Amino acid sequence: MAAELFSKILKLKKERNAVILAHNYQRPEVQDIADYVGDSLGLSIQASKAKADVIVFCGVHFMAETAAILCPDKKIIMPEVKAGCPMADMITVEKLQKIKDQNPNVPVVCYVNTSAEIKAESDICCTSANSVKVVASLPDKEVIFVPDKYLGAYTQSKIPDKKLVLYEGYCPTHANIFPEHIEAAKKAHPQALVLVHPECRPQVTALADEVLSTGGMLKFVKNSEKQEFIIGTEMGIIYTLQKQNPGKNFYPASERAVCPNMKLTTLEKVFWSLEDMKTEVVVPKEVADKARKAIERMLEIGRQD
Ligand code: 13P
Ligand code: SF4
Repeated sequence: MAAELFSKILKLKKERNAVILAHNYQRPEVQDIADYVGDSLGLSIQASKAKADVIVFCGVHFMAETAAILCPDKKIIMPEVKAGCPMADMITVEKLQKIKDQNPNVPVVCYVNTSAEIKAESDICCTSANSVKVVASLPDKEVIFVPDKYLGAYTQSKIPDKKLVLYEGYCPTHANIFPEHIEAAKKAHPQALVLVHPECRPQVTALADEVLSTGGMLKFVKNSEKQEFIIGTEMGIIYTLQKQNPGKNFYPASERAVCPNMKLTTLEKVFWSLEDMKTEVVVPKEVADKARKAIERMLEIGRQD
């Protein structure tokens, strides 16, 4: 059944001149059908380089919007358009404006996990792979950082000479990983290295050997001599890690670290989206033109891992 669906998707993909991009947290079968699997930064770069007419985006809404902003002449479709990011929804333009009014002339760095409207109102965008590099690149001492207070706190810890104005946003999935989980996993696997995502609580990142984006984790594990790893991020990445490193062992820090939105996309929905060319993600030109500046400014800076 899955094999049949696979070949039907591949045939349609060719007919539509489409590429399939998938985030590292997607279901295994969705990762397997994708032309490129990566983190938010990698997916933005792939979208900007894609030669196809259509991009099928298997991830959450802000990621597809980023692709739509970077590729105004391509059709961006989401197999499941209801897949959102609760953290991205925590900040609105009105709330951002209030922070800007309270901190006049302070530049705004927005995490890529934001709507196109927030990006349009920001000076520069960042991802978990480059937040330190992006903030450090600004000449200003004070920087507004939205919406993730935990990524913001991690970034602040790496650049003590800056003063970050943080917001109250957070990722509910990563907030589900507690220090007790890391301690228990370390006890059970004393030889394992602990890798956690910077969206985790500071009490969790404090216990980690490495704090990395999902793409950073994949790169780190591939180049590491170690055999065992405790993974403090969304569980979907364990499939990717295991596939790329068959001889190594991975233990989730918490079985509760599952992003329900990332799991909404299924193989059937990928097929239907290509068949019906739906649901298209469109960003109004005026917003996209402003948001593109913040994203392109980030892309010029690149990754840190
Ligand atoms: P990455 O950019 O590290 O893949 O993170 C995206 C995300 O949504 C993490 O929750
Ligand atoms: Fe958003 Fe968290 Fe899901 Fe990432 S894991 S998409 S930050 S809710």
